[in-house]
Amino acid sequence: MTHYFTEEGSVEAVNARMRGEVTPRLREVMESLVKHLHAFAKEVELTQTEWEFGIDFLTKTGQICSAERQEFILLSDVLGLSMLVDAINNRRPAGATENTVFGPFHVEDAPIRAMGDTICLDGKGETCLFTGRVIDIHGEPIEGACVDVWSDNAEGFYDVQQPDVQPKWNNRGRFYTGADGAYAFRGIKPVSYPIPDDGPVGQMLDRLGRHPYRPAHMHFLVTSPGFQTIVTHTFVGDDPYLSDDAVFGVKQTLVAPFEHVRGDTEWHSPFDFVMVAKA
Ligand code: BEZ
Ligand code: FE
Repeated sequence: MTHYFTEEGSVEAVNARMRGEVTPRLREVMESLVKHLHAFAKEVELTQTEWEFGIDFLTKTGQICSAERQEFILLSDVLGLSMLVDAINNRRPAGATENTVFGPFHVEDAPIRAMGDTICLDGKGETCLFTGRVIDIHGEPIEGACVDVWSDNAEGFYDVQQPDVQPKWNNRGRFYTGADGAYAFRGIKPVSYPIPDDGPVGQMLDRLGRHPYRPAHMHFLVTSPGFQTIVTHTFVGDDPYLSDDAVFGVKQTLVAPFEHVRGDTEWHSPFDFVMVAKA
């Protein structure tokens, strides 16, 4: 039967065009996408002007993308989609370390440093010792796990955002655990910072009365053969943005202790990473 386009039959008109050889998964995803997209337009009775505004917004989002900037992922982050996709794909048993958003500032092949070394190369900020163990769900240490870490500097910028200002590899490093599964490194107590907000996503946040800030955090990418990769952060517990992270990355289990050790400017943050074996 021919499906001419009508308002009522819009979804069927579009989905009927898919050919028989389309894979079942592509069919499922596209049929659902069209169904929900049309339902959205119908529910809000989208005006022509609003549609043009949306197209213009997406065009600008694409135009600002470059090798260094991924505005579409930022859009996904502020809409909560990145965290939702991560949650759907990384359901873990209680006690296992939870994932959070990856973010755009990871750099592969950071220097491998000796246990206890510092990752802070610009000498700014309050020193913090990060320690803990990488263990499996039964509490057994995992030897040879890679703990890849990165954070902003004391002024709230990652090294890649300020290549002419910060030393290369500032506040980054990789550490390999020994037989006891332990890791230790020095960095700074991270500070809260705004996500890049000088593009269309920043304008959107502004129009919605939302701020662009992320609560202070240290990024961790923990990998070990045979275990599910952990992409996560630990958060500083007294941060004012903890309850309204611009990208919804905070989970209760990821709020880590940050304890004073000496004076006002030296800290210790203990945190264990609990990995789940791959199925
Ligand atoms: C980050 O934590 O580095 C980050 C995450 C999402 C968007 C922007 C930055
Ligand atoms: Fe970050």
